[in-house]
Amino acid sequence: MKKVFINGYGSIGSRITSFLKDDPEITVIGIGKYSPDEKVNVAISRGLNVYVPEKKLNDFSDYKISGSIESALDECDLVIDAAPGGHGYKNKKNLYEPKNILAIYQGGESTVGDESVSDLLFNSRANYDQVLGKKHVMQGSCNVTGMGRILEPLREKFGDQLIRFDVTLVRRWADIEQTEKNVSDTIEMSEKPHHGDDVKLYFGKDAPLYVRAIKVPTRQMHLHIMDIRFKNTAPKPSEIHDLFVDEFGVATLWTAKGTKDVRDYAQNMGFNFTDTNMIHIHANMTTSIGDTVQMMYSDDQTGIVIPENHMLLQAMLFGKSYDQAFAHTESIFNMHEKKQKLQEHFAKKI
Ligand SMILES: NC(=O)c1ccc[n+]([C@@H]2O[C@H](COP(=O)([O-])OP(=O)(O)OC[C@H]3O[C@@H](n4cnc5c(N)ncnc54)[C@H](OP(=O)(O)O)[C@@H]3O)[C@@H](O)[C@H]2O)c1
Repeated sequence: MKKVFINGYGSIGSRITSFLKDDPEITVIGIGKYSPDEKVNVAISRGLNVYVPEKKLNDFSDYKISGSIESALDECDLVIDAAPGGHGYKNKKNLYEPKNILAIYQGGESTVGDESVSDLLFNSRANYDQVLGKKHVMQGSCNVTGMGRILEPLREKFGDQLIRFDVTLVRRWADIEQTEKNVSDTIEMSEKPHHGDDVKLYFGKDAPLYVRAIKVPTRQMHLHIMDIRFKNTAPKPSEIHDLFVDEFGVATLWTAKGTKDVRDYAQNMGFNFTDTNMIHIHANMTTSIGDTVQMMYSDDQTGIVIPENHMLLQAMLFGKSYDQAFAHTESIFNMHEKKQKLQEHFAKKI
């Protein structure tokens, strides 16, 4: 049995922890908390051991914590860092590297420059085998993971027929449970978004991919607007949709009016954390005009990276093959069943 510690218990850390507790191959040693707030007791009530930084132990005297993060790390085989962007790098330098521990980082970190956590950005669809034997790997962010789920199947099918991808990322402002964050009434433009460069780490540095990003006042997922240009006449929408029939983590929906419809359905169906853990092609929006296919898909910001973390963990901890890891992740996340349910509910009306 391998032991895993989750450092950070916010939107991502709490989800990863919840699924890992269902994994019979893993023991969750506990989670790392940094602020003495009500979430400490929430975690304890869920049966988790809570650890805090050594130098903050006194701040948590009102809580039944299990010890210091430093001591918990000494016990574990792998740490999943789920810290706010940038803190993962500091943790790597101050904690994980000195203790020689395998570590997974989240998409708010960097893979380039002075503060990079890894030279590898994981996308199970694109580079699973490359992370076998690695000690420090970054999981792509939600938008980067979502783009990979569309781009890889397109590249496999159409290869050098593809001339260019132009993507506009319409990003959500905050997550549903981040009630402390105000959703401002403005459309914010992102200068030099990192997402295109991140995707190119697995898609190829010369890939003709051009990404713009804006942030809009919603908590209900991201939406990607993608134009795909072909050398000759573009395929029909149905040919594009056919590519995704058997794709992991991609549902094709026809009748969702907006992202909240999808989230509401996930909630009504009792999906964990109201997540679908996937992207959703809004098939009614796909068009083919001359040499260009236009498409839109929504991206479950909090959910999509959780099964990916699980795949990555299996590669790094157990050295499993892609097929073995995939089967085990599927047994825990039931992605196929969720996809079928979503597709049936939002099916094309005849
Ligand atoms: N939210 C998303 O939709 C999403 C999607 C994909 C990837 N990501 C990435 O996942 C990472 C975490 O994001 P999040 O949305 O989960 O953030 P979050 O909800 O703000 O949670 C961050 C957590 O990290 C803890 N923390 C604070 N300082 C820390 C440190 N030095 N080391 C470790 N943990 C620390 C916080 O603890 P306290 O609360 O106790 O202070 C909190 O529990 C970021 O890299 C983000 O870019 C987020």
